[in-house]
Formats: sequence, structure tokens, C-alpha cells
Amino acid sequence: MIDSTAAPLPPTLAPDTRSPALRTEAGTPGVSRVLVVDDESSIRQAIARFLRERGYDVHVCGSGPAALALLEHERFVVMLCDIRMPEMSGLEVVPRALELDRDLAVLMLTAVNEAGAATEALSRGALDYLVKPVAFVDLQAAVERAVHRRQLEIDRRNVERHIREEVMLRTMELEKEKAALHALTIGIAETLINAMEAKDLYLRGHSRRVAELAASVAEALGLDADVVENIRLAGRLHDIGKIGIREDILNKPGALTDDEYAHVKEHVRIGMEILEPLHHIPEALEYIHDHHEHFDGTGYPRGKRGTDISIGGRILTACDAFDAMTSRRAFREAFDEKQTIEHLEAEVGRLLDPAVFAALEKVVGRRMTLTFIDDRHA
Ligand SMILES: [Fe+2]
Ligand SMILES: [Fe+2]
Repeated sequence: MIDSTAAPLPPTLAPDTRSPALRTEAGTPGVSRVLVVDDESSIRQAIARFLRERGYDVHVCGSGPAALALLEHERFVVMLCDIRMPEMSGLEVVPRALELDRDLAVLMLTAVNEAGAATEALSRGALDYLVKPVAFVDLQAAVERAVHRRQLEIDRRNVERHIREEVMLRTMELEKEKAALHALTIGIAETLINAMEAKDLYLRGHSRRVAELAASVAEALGLDADVVENIRLAGRLHDIGKIGIREDILNKPGALTDDEYAHVKEHVRIGMEILEPLHHIPEALEYIHDHHEHFDGTGYPRGKRGTDISIGGRILTACDAFDAMTSRRAFREAFDEKQTIEHLEAEVGRLLDPAVFAALEKVVGRRMTLTFIDDRHA
């Protein structure tokens, strides 16, 4: 049924209200095509003559196979099909005809004693049945009803298809806008970090270096590509909370007081607050949250331990420490990579996950070899 209170349909989807005889199989102006299938010549000719007089374009077939052969190449709006035929029963014809043309409206012609077969035909997809001998007035009404019901069904499918396509299109547009917005948000966060790091000679490039090293370590651990990318992203954003830390403390040469250290530790909480709107990167956020956790449970902010700490968090901890040591600070010179690895080895099981340290050692070792080769060719 069509709901008359519903919003008006677009013109191409509005129900076809023209006379049933003036609808073709495609719903375009013309004449409805009707196929009459009956083994009794006198019946099919009488039906054909009657319907032609009422403006239908009628074709006749004397058997099921002949009708199916015709349906292979031609489209009809209605098929009137006898049930009892010698070669192939109408019951067999119906499903095969509907396979060839699912829009075909099928009416069965049955004898009085074939009520069971008629019901069976309905269950196989026929719309209605007429009992022979057929009164012409009933025939005309049944054909008109069938044409109308078929049209309603086609309209319904068109509306459904239109809605599906529209929903798909809107979803795609939304996804695209969302992705653009996400990229923009991450871009803004990165700009903030670059601006912050640019002010500090010792911090300059820290996030970018941690991100690249962490991604290499993640790859060396054989993690999936999407995890690697989330770890790279987390590396880029991990220290964004330092925006909220006093510059004099961030740049202070020498050791921090307990209060100052407590203030620096706040950068993880502040960072999580800044990044909170980035719901689309929950994994990266979790890694950032964990980037100061220690493998033995003595880190912050949540004191997580061992493999309770996310893999991204464990990797960032190691790479953060590596980059801090290999960078020059106001109060000391940079350690070289070999010294740093030796120092970090002592932290395995305390600050560092053993597996992550092993991967870091491998990545740094490979990098030192490449640098050595580069130097020789310089
Ligand atoms: Fe940090
Ligand atoms: Fe850091």
C-alpha cells in the first residue's frame, strides 16, 4: 500500500496513474503487453481478441516452453497462464518466467477442480487466478488489478533504490567531510607542537623524531600497518600537553624540584584534554596516555604495569627516552646512540619492555650501519 500522507515522490518515482492498457513493461507511454499461454487454441484466441479490443498488445503461446522462449527475448507486463498443459504445467512455468522477468505480473487460468494448484501457483509468485470459463468482465478487472499491483511494486522498488542510493551518497559525503575534518584537527595539533618545539632549541624536532623511530620499532615488532600508523601519529602528538607547562620549568637546566616535576607530569593529563575531541583515533590517544608509564608499574599517570600498558605506550616510552638522551640539553651534551642503547639496556624490565628494547636496539643498530655506509660514501 502507498501511504497517502507520505511526502510527494519525485516525478520519476510517482505512481503511474495512466490507464493499465497504456503502460508498457518499462512504464513508458505505449500499450501494455500481455502474454496468453494456453494449450487450447479457442480459449487463448478468445482472450486475446477481447484484450486487444481493449487496447492491449497481446501475444499468444500454446505451451510453457514456447512462452519461456519468448520471455527470454521479450518483456510483457502481464502473463495469463493456464495451469494444466501437456508439455509443462503452469506451476512449473511461473517460477521460471519470474526468473526471466521478476516484474512480470502472472495470472493463472484454472479449472474449477484445480483450487489446490491455483493456491500453489500463488505461493510460487502468481498474483491471482481466474477460474475457467472466464467471464470477460472478471478477466478485464483481474488484468487491470495485476497491472496496477505490478506498477505499485515497481514504484516501491524504485523508491527503495532511490533511498538506498541517497543514503549511500550522503554517507560517503559525510565520511569525506569527517576525514577532512580529522586531518585538519590533527594538522592543527601538529602545528601547535611545531610552534612549541620551535621555541626550544633542545626540543626542536623531538616529536617528529620520536614518531619516526616509534613507527620503525613497531614495524620491527611485526605490528599491523594500521597499528604502526597509529603509533606514528601518537608520536607526533604525544607531548602536546607541554603547551600547558611553564616554559621556565621545561627549559630549566639541571634537576627539577619535586613540585616542578609534579607540574611537568601534568603534561599527559593536559594533552589528553586537548586531544579529547579526536574520537576517531582512540588507539593513538591510548598510546599517548601511556607514554610515561614504566614497565615495572612506577610510571605515570596511571601506574600501569607490563603488558597492561598499550603496545604503543611501551614503544613511545622507549623512543622518547632514546630521543631525550641523544638530544643535547641545556645542562649536558647529547649521548651517542651506542651509549644510549647501553644505558637503556639497564632499564629493561624497569622502564622498558624487553621485547620493545630488543626491537629498538635492532632499529638503531641498522640505522648506525646505514649512517656508517653513508659516511664512507660521502
Ligand atoms: Fe612526554
Ligand atoms: Fe616526549
